[in-house]
Amino acid sequence: MQLSNRYPSLDGAVVFITGGGSGIGAALVEAFADQNATVVFVDILKDESVALAKTLNDRLGSERVYFHHCDLINVEQLQQIIHNTGERFGPIKALINNAAQDTRHDFREVTPEYWNERININLRPQFFAAQAVYEQMKNAGGGSIINFGSMSWHECQGNMTGYTTSKAAVLGMTRGLARDMGPDRIRVNTLTPGWVMTERQLANWVNEDTKAEIHSSQCLKEELFPEHICSMALFLASDDSRMCTAQDYIVDGGWI
Ligand SMILES: NC(=O)c1ccc[n+]([C@@H]2O[C@H](COP(=O)([O-])OP(=O)(O)OC[C@H]3O[C@@H](n4cnc5c(N)ncnc54)[C@H](O)[C@@H]3O)[C@@H](O)[C@H]2O)c1
Repeated sequence: MQLSNRYPSLDGAVVFITGGGSGIGAALVEAFADQNATVVFVDILKDESVALAKTLNDRLGSERVYFHHCDLINVEQLQQIIHNTGERFGPIKALINNAAQDTRHDFREVTPEYWNERININLRPQFFAAQAVYEQMKNAGGGSIINFGSMSWHECQGNMTGYTTSKAAVLGMTRGLARDMGPDRIRVNTLTPGWVMTERQLANWVNEDTKAEIHSSQCLKEELFPEHICSMALFLASDDSRMCTAQDYIVDGGWI
């Protein structure tokens, strides 16, 4: 994947990505590394993440991509890795809160424990990662936080209320933090993907019927791929979007 735009403000920047081991996150890791950023990412997937970092570092010819194993349920560990990243590489310029789990669940069977787990994966780490980068970004004179939302709840998608509730809450969290952090020149936005053809989506849910649904529902009659989300993420992380904050940037091909 090679995106055409170059963002000079990302050259040498430190970028932190959650869930960078697969799917859209892996494409984000590659896209930022291709901008000559130093990319630190966390994931629960060990083998895939180690392989991704190695492949990219080999291709780039220098060590620019770093992986740390972390289950985001453990916010203390997440915050420690963010702190260590700043100490080692300098202040984080962009935080990409990408990781999530859209595991399906029947609302009749959800227990309080399972509900908390959904929120603790899909919402809580986004807040605590933002809290952890705040000092670094403030001391550096600013930064960009990109929280991942989802079109699923706009479309009343069922069978995963713990996920859709978290993703709806991301919008409110984004706007509250944008107000709190704006005076320190830290921008906070939501990036909301439509239905993106990751390997996992293709393997589990995309078939000829759903492709027909995509074509009838999207204004643009093409499938969305991770690079389309990366283009928006690069823009929002760069100084080119310096007056953009508190917004929800939807990349869904115009799903109606
Ligand atoms: N793919 C889509 O169609 C789509 C649509 C709407 C929104 N999104 C959003 O885009 C983002 C990326 O989506 P995706 O399709 O690439 O997801 P994915 O499930 O394919 O990948 C998510 C990544 O996060 C990691 N992860 C999950 N739980 C974790 C945990 N507890 N600790 C650490 N890492 C963890 C996974 O291992 C994986 O590498 C998510 O926020 C998702 O909600 C995706």
